[in-house]
Amino acid sequence: MSSEIFDKVQRVLTALQEQNIERAQDLEAFRVKYVGSKNEIKALFGEIKNVANERKKEFGQLLNDVKQAAEEKYNHWKEKLEGESGGEDDIAIDLTAPTAAIPLGSRHPVSIILNRIIHIFERIGFTVAEEREIEDDWHNFTAMNTPEDHPARDMQDTFYLKDSTNELLRTHTSSVQARIMKNQKPPIRIIAPGRVYRNETISSRSHCQFHQVEGLYIDKDVSFADLKQTLLYFAREMYGPKTDIRLRPSFFPFTEPSAEMDVYWGLNNEDDYRITKGTGWLEILGCGMVDPNVLENCGIDPDVYSGFAFGMGIERQAMLQHKITDIRQLFQNDTRFLKQFSGVI
Ligand code: PHE
Repeated sequence: MSSEIFDKVQRVLTALQEQNIERAQDLEAFRVKYVGSKNEIKALFGEIKNVANERKKEFGQLLNDVKQAAEEKYNHWKEKLEGESGGEDDIAIDLTAPTAAIPLGSRHPVSIILNRIIHIFERIGFTVAEEREIEDDWHNFTAMNTPEDHPARDMQDTFYLKDSTNELLRTHTSSVQARIMKNQKPPIRIIAPGRVYRNETISSRSHCQFHQVEGLYIDKDVSFADLKQTLLYFAREMYGPKTDIRLRPSFFPFTEPSAEMDVYWGLNNEDDYRITKGTGWLEILGCGMVDPNVLENCGIDPDVYSGFAFGMGIERQAMLQHKITDIRQLFQNDTRFLKQFSGVI
């Protein structure tokens, strides 16, 4: 019987000597097993009653040696591991490990283009003017020289607020022209970005809401040449320094003369043929000299001042630059689509 107990103690000693300690968790397991208040060695002291009297002393001695070996090993590793982790934490930290990536959001493609346009015009002294999306008939149409019977006023094109013939969702950012001219004295040099609404059937090419940027410059002696040069500057900043533009005569009620500006996109591949309908030219904006009637409607003397205005859509430019083929993707808030623009500023 006695020798069996001696063997048992011996096995505990061997086990504790062989116990592998590498991390704080290992040390804690060792402590619980051999040093803590309910450790295995303590239990063995209880066995002393089973040892023959003449060997009791020897047994006690052996147990004390085992106890000491456990304590020494524990203290040795405790010191060592605490030294490694700076004594702060139980877990050793690798300060050279790369951090977890912080997920970044992405800008909406419409915002990306909008911001680029704003910065281009800010560099030549235009300031941003933002105005309401719910407008009244006067600012959206009447002040802009749009006759009562103009088809744009038709219920088909304009969203009117319920039971109202006066309040509507603005159909273009030109309404900002009227708001600014009524409240500011020339020289006026603003660009007005924002949402506009038209009652159109939604398809891959058109939507009932989209964005425009309006430009307005009013001062003494502003000429069509100023308009042309400003637009050429814009086109070359936006589409590359060698970009050509052309102005085609057009009609808007609020400008006289009026034009549409195309930029030369090129005909290098099949996509270019499709996008430009085989011409190589892309229509980007409408523009013209502010009609004297508009100046007068807004309290600016057309005999003293003149000015130009232009307005352009944003979605189409965003679609061209990012090869987006369906305008609806810009309004669906599908993060799988939007994530593709992360990192683009
Ligand atoms: N408001 C016009 C449109 O929505 C664009 C435009 C703005 C044309 C300013 C001329 C001058 O199509």
